[in-house]
Amino acid sequence: MHANTHNFFFLVCLPFLLNALHVWSGESDSLVLSSGNGGTDTDGRKWGADSKYLDAKNSITSTAAFQDPSLSSVIPYMTARIFPSEASYKFPVKSTKRYWLRLHFYPSAYSNFNAADSYFSVTANTLTLLKNFSASITCQALSQAYIVREYSLAPLESETLTVVFKPSNNHPGAFAFVNGIEVIPMPELFDAAPMVGSPTEVDVKSLTTETMYRLNVGGQYISPANDSGLTRAWYDDLPYIIGAASGTTNHASPKLQIQYQDMPKYIAPEDVYKSSRSLGVVTSITQNFNLTWQFQVDPKFMYLVRLYFCDYYYSKENQLVFSIFINNQTAEPTADVIGWSGGKGVPIYKDYVIYVKEDGWGNQTPTLLLALHPQGESKPEFLDAMLNGVELFKLGDSTGNLAGPNPQPSAMLIKAEQEKKTFKKSDDTKGKVIGGAAGGAAAFGIVAAICVVVLYQRKRRIPGSESQTSSWLPLYGNSHTTGTKSTISGKSTASSGISAAAQGLCRHFSLAEIKQATKSFDESNVIGVGGFGKVYKGVIDAGMKVAIKRSNPSSEQGVNEFQTEIEMLSKLRHKHLVSLIGFCEEDGEMCLVYDYMARGTLREHIYKCKQPLSWKQRLEICIGAARGLHYLHTGARYTIIHRDVKTTNILLDENWVAKVSDFGLSKTGPNMNNGHVSTVVKGSFGYLDPEYFRRQQLTEKSDIYSFGVVLFEVLSARPALNPSLPKEQVSLADWALHCKRKGTLDDIIDPTVKGKINPECLKKFADTAEKCLADAGFERPSMGDVLWNLEFALQLQENLQDGSSHSSQGQESDDTSEESLRNRNMAMHYRNLNIGSEHEGSDESSESSAIFSQIVNPKGR
Ligand SMILES: *[C@@H]1O[C@H](CO)[C@@H](O)[C@H](O)[C@H]1NC(C)=O
Ligand SMILES: *[C@@H]1O[C@H](CO)[C@@H](O)[C@H](O)[C@H]1NC(C)=O
Ligand SMILES: *[C@@H]1O[C@H](CO)[C@@H](O)[C@H](O)[C@H]1NC(C)=O
Ligand SMILES: *[C@@H]1O[C@H](CO)[C@@H](O)[C@H](O)[C@H]1NC(C)=O
Repeated sequence: MHANTHNFFFLVCLPFLLNALHVWSGESDSLVLSSGNGGTDTDGRKWGADSKYLDAKNSITSTAAFQDPSLSSVIPYMTARIFPSEASYKFPVKSTKRYWLRLHFYPSAYSNFNAADSYFSVTANTLTLLKNFSASITCQALSQAYIVREYSLAPLESETLTVVFKPSNNHPGAFAFVNGIEVIPMPELFDAAPMVGSPTEVDVKSLTTETMYRLNVGGQYISPANDSGLTRAWYDDLPYIIGAASGTTNHASPKLQIQYQDMPKYIAPEDVYKSSRSLGVVTSITQNFNLTWQFQVDPKFMYLVRLYFCDYYYSKENQLVFSIFINNQTAEPTADVIGWSGGKGVPIYKDYVIYVKEDGWGNQTPTLLLALHPQGESKPEFLDAMLNGVELFKLGDSTGNLAGPNPQPSAMLIKAEQEKKTFKKSDDTKGKVIGGAAGGAAAFGIVAAICVVVLYQRKRRIPGSESQTSSWLPLYGNSHTTGTKSTISGKSTASSGISAAAQGLCRHFSLAEIKQATKSFDESNVIGVGGFGKVYKGVIDAGMKVAIKRSNPSSEQGVNEFQTEIEMLSKLRHKHLVSLIGFCEEDGEMCLVYDYMARGTLREHIYKCKQPLSWKQRLEICIGAARGLHYLHTGARYTIIHRDVKTTNILLDENWVAKVSDFGLSKTGPNMNNGHVSTVVKGSFGYLDPEYFRRQQLTEKSDIYSFGVVLFEVLSARPALNPSLPKEQVSLADWALHCKRKGTLDDIIDPTVKGKINPECLKKFADTAEKCLADAGFERPSMGDVLWNLEFALQLQENLQDGSSHSSQGQESDDTSEESLRNRNMAMHYRNLNIGSEHEGSDESSESSAIFSQIVNPKGR
């Protein structure tokens, strides 16, 4: 890297400089501008006013008519600069420097201008960045409220950057708009990179790029303020994983020092290097999998794929060797991270360029596939593959064009809208609103991948649309289809404290309708009683069954929880979350209307019931609930902590699909950025995270703890607290951990499933539950890890049930002895146990090696 030390210093200090921008935005090189007067966003960045750089007399600024609940920040999104005719900005720049140019768009209604009518092009000097661009269609297709386009402009050889917004001629009345612009100098990040499948190199140094994806693989969202000085946002990679294997995430010990050596620190933040995804336990089941990411891209462009690696487990060459494929072509036959970097904790990155043809590489939608596969031929010590981060950049073509077509709103969106319409007409309510997926028992992994891809669209800011079907209903653009007889609220319920946005997203029932539905709250319709009040069964719209929660009007807590629940649920839609249909607030009555869950709570199906669930059903239900919670933790912009995970809050629909309910205690909000919120301790005894109790600081790891209790409850069919038992057994969490550690877990297994559980599955399940109950939050796995482990456990159970289904895979061809494979698998196993620490885990007994040899050789059973 050629950034001189002066620039380097500048970049490292950028976050601080940004805070001072409003004082000297004239002198500084960085321009972070919002339409209108500027201000501070929720991440604490200062935005200046754009007017100084504007070279136009015809523009107007206007405030959006509607604040979408998922907008990350009022600044810069709520104000737009509107250009009814061509207009430009002129920014002073250094002719030899590379610059970020970021454009922020929030398509909404701005006074007389509706963003749906807006089509325009954007050019930067000689470059075409956008053409016939509709922010509205793009956002609709991605099912998100706003988008950011990020370009890295190669040195312009000019002292002025002129950004021109030009309304499209093809659409009468079209106008252009923008909500925020950033022009920020950056170091030269690019160099020559090999072209996959050809001996040539492409010199990216001279090219302008558009960022398509930037993912912190195996890690979490990193905000621009927490980037390594380059104000980039990094996203979770899970939504882009396809296929059965999502692998396992690994986190370096907090003590690990990243050894940057010659590499500038700004290349990527430490958090990117300190988390990774690997295939994990490589067995005959998994060794035939690729770890694969799929990205939607615009055809007929070259793309730069930058892969980040940093190994913090191994220190020798040929310990871990894998192959890297891009669009089915071998980009790297033998990737050896330690061989490249020279040591443990030393980060590196690798660049590859690939051209994506008109029809992509397979068929249909152009996608870019990145696949990693363990490389057995070079006989590495371990069979695995890993990745820490990935960036995907589109490269400007020879004419300086970067613009692609508007994405097509996906088949999924269109289908969801249609389903809503047919639903309104038909009396047959089965399955439609209620998540749809009949036979909800998920095939291993695959359904997870699809759901997650769809869910995460809200966080994506990049074009590309999913065509897979899913039961998830998108949040945008369909609130107008709700309700036939009821009014859509937004004007009434003045003092309720429920935001207009939330009200706009769900249906408002009149008290008369609620009374009709429940036969005036007839006691015979009561199906449950909670802290909030009674829950009634009811029928609306001539046939649709619903559950109606009526608050106890006297309780102050009730009012708050009522509001929280509407705010939360109106924004969330997921197959594994109970859907809120609407609410009623009238005459001091407060009611919430939900999907009716025909089979009630999980709790009533594991004990004291006539027909206890089979082990496989229990696993599937746990997986469903884990998916719902995983979505809460990672699917929305802010982490949502449920705070009251327990078996009575996991409900089952008629197809036994698990749905997480009761969001009255959930917490979210911008202050979650600190990783925790301080609150009064709430929740249910028996499930309460002891760390939360001690420190009164809530993190999503509190939900993990409660979920661990749920897992043991499902296994042992006894309540989380049973005061009638001897003292040491009262708390299930304590007792189960005690038994697990003493090796007497068998004694507490529910007799109705005991003996029907595959021992490997049981071990995986119990290990997972145990890790969830770790005393310190940071030692507990993430919900994503829990999910993967449960799915793995289900797979192991299914192997037992359908005999030899996997026994033919990947054995004969192996030239390695079973003994050495077993050793590898043991090593892998330790490695996965030791998430977050590098020393421990030698106390596993030989018992587990026997188990793993069974996985290696399932035929043996
Ligand atoms: C992994 O991906 C490569 C490239 O797409 C493909 O050739 C190979 O067959 C895949 N392997 C498996 C096990 O799917
Ligand atoms: C991927 O490559 C393999 C061999 O290189 C080939 O057999 C296979 O058909 C390719 N798959 C696709 C979808 O092009
Ligand atoms: C502009 O985009 C719209 C929406 O994607 C599309 O229907 C139309 O054909 C495009 N027009 C041109 C001239 O490309
Ligand atoms: C940046 O990271 C720190 C430490 O992880 C965290 O406390 C802070 O909230 C983050 N800031 C933002 C804006 O995300």
